[in-house]
Amino acid sequence: METFSDCFWVLFVASKCKTFSSQNFILLLLFLCMAWLAMSLCFWFYPGGPAWGKHFWLRKRSATKLNNNIIPGPRGFPVVGSMNLMVNLAHRKLSAAAKSFGAKRLMAFSLGDTRVIITCNPDVAKEILNSSVFADRPVKESAYSLMFNRAIGFAPYGVYWRTLRRIAATHLFSPKQISSTEAQRFGIASQMVSIMACRGGEFSVRDIIKKASLNNMMCSVFGSKYQLGSSNSETQKLSQLVEEGYDLLGKLNWSDHLPWLARLDLQRIRLRCSELVPKVNKFVNRIIQEHKLQTGRRNHDFVDVLLSLNGPDRLSDNEMIAVLWEMIFRGTDTVAVLIEWILARMVLHPEIQSKVQAELDQVVGKSRPLMESDILSMFYLPAVVKEVLRLHPPGPLLSWARLAITDTTIDGYHVPPGTTAMVNMWAITRDPDVWIDPLKFMPERFVSKDSADVEFSVLGSDLRLAPFGSGRRTCPGKTLGLATVSFWVGFLLHEFEWMQSDDNPVDLTEMLRLSCEMANPLKVKVHPRRC
Ligand code: HEM
Repeated sequence: METFSDCFWVLFVASKCKTFSSQNFILLLLFLCMAWLAMSLCFWFYPGGPAWGKHFWLRKRSATKLNNNIIPGPRGFPVVGSMNLMVNLAHRKLSAAAKSFGAKRLMAFSLGDTRVIITCNPDVAKEILNSSVFADRPVKESAYSLMFNRAIGFAPYGVYWRTLRRIAATHLFSPKQISSTEAQRFGIASQMVSIMACRGGEFSVRDIIKKASLNNMMCSVFGSKYQLGSSNSETQKLSQLVEEGYDLLGKLNWSDHLPWLARLDLQRIRLRCSELVPKVNKFVNRIIQEHKLQTGRRNHDFVDVLLSLNGPDRLSDNEMIAVLWEMIFRGTDTVAVLIEWILARMVLHPEIQSKVQAELDQVVGKSRPLMESDILSMFYLPAVVKEVLRLHPPGPLLSWARLAITDTTIDGYHVPPGTTAMVNMWAITRDPDVWIDPLKFMPERFVSKDSADVEFSVLGSDLRLAPFGSGRRTCPGKTLGLATVSFWVGFLLHEFEWMQSDDNPVDLTEMLRLSCEMANPLKVKVHPRRC
């Protein structure tokens, strides 16, 4: 900012001079370009790249106290910094960069004008995620355009966000609310089984699981019940809206980090958001209005719950739209992506699949289907879910970053306000200093009787494996997400034996969008176990 205003003053003063001919103007422009280039190179020269360099130089000029303790990190390229690290499999690239800079505990890098720190260490991750300084999220244009700043995920840290978190904890994700939807999850699981049983031969599970997950969220959020096997325009429409939003939020938007590019909307993200939002508004608003007109017995879905709130908790219709849309959005894909990874691992490791099935047969038997209450008596199935969360966390970088609200110190380094912080959970869960044989798929690591890992919680208290984040901004839907995933996986493994497709063997290649999913959808063959 200061440099731009300096340039403006130079031009202004020069324009008042008599000697300001067009030739001099070109010379002046050339001079300014050279100065900008020289300054960009100076900024770029700093460890961590241009954004850190800019901060360092400007801070020096404003004569604030200087802390010479510098966070190591790549310089990247002049002006744009390390944008290249954030494309494709960012978690892998960032992990490799941290290793090569000896900066696994804390690494600095620049995304254009954005200063970023990232850790691949559980202790430092805890320091960041559990600090109240990092309770905010960095501004993301697509998130704001898609109304997520009025929902929980991107609402600025403050009274409004706290109100939403309280509503979520006490009403939407309370144990009572979760257990009231048990029958719904059972019904959808049974429908999945019927569809899979009819498929015969090889089939792709992704479409079935995604649709099941969307139907499940539509039922919890809107109270809408649809048959999985039949196509209907409502689910199709919503699925398209979610898919488009997913794509937009998952994209690295250059304008977020290079403000001088913002007006151009080069990636057409603003345009696409502005086309999507009215459609979402129309869709969700119609459902809210229908609920308002309903009389008699209520479903107690999320719309009912929000409409029943009074006083300071009462949300406006627009706020409700944002919250409900976020729930559908966040709850659908994370669950589906994780189930696909688990089934892929089960197909890849038949001996482990047999162990889960042995446990299911022991606890449930073969005469009846699995119920959610059975999961409480199981050890191996939860261990399998944890092991897949370890090797394939749906959010390897914890999906959404955090923002420092004030000056703070992390791992002994000064971190200025406005710095974005990330945790590379994927790198932590594959670190040989943290896990024995980290690349080996071994659910036993979570069940061995003499180990402290028997009761290992993945809900955020132990940062060696915290796929739902931790601290104030931890995932509010984690209990619901975990309950759904564990039950559906258990149900499917109880009903079928799962086998590799002959022509399409399991391919664990990743693709990072908003979540990290299998690049090549899982193809399987199933054989009924309970006749
Ligand atoms: C397997 C399932 C899921 C995984 C792996 C997951 C993961 C995550 C992660 C890593 C975060 C960021 C946490 C942080 O910054 O510390 C998050 C935030 C969030 N998740 Fe989940 N999630 C899952 C399911 C769900 C479900 C089912 C819902 C709701 C229906 C949900 C709603 C949210 C919301 C609203 C936030 C933002 C919280 C805030 O900023 O205050 N998630 N989730």
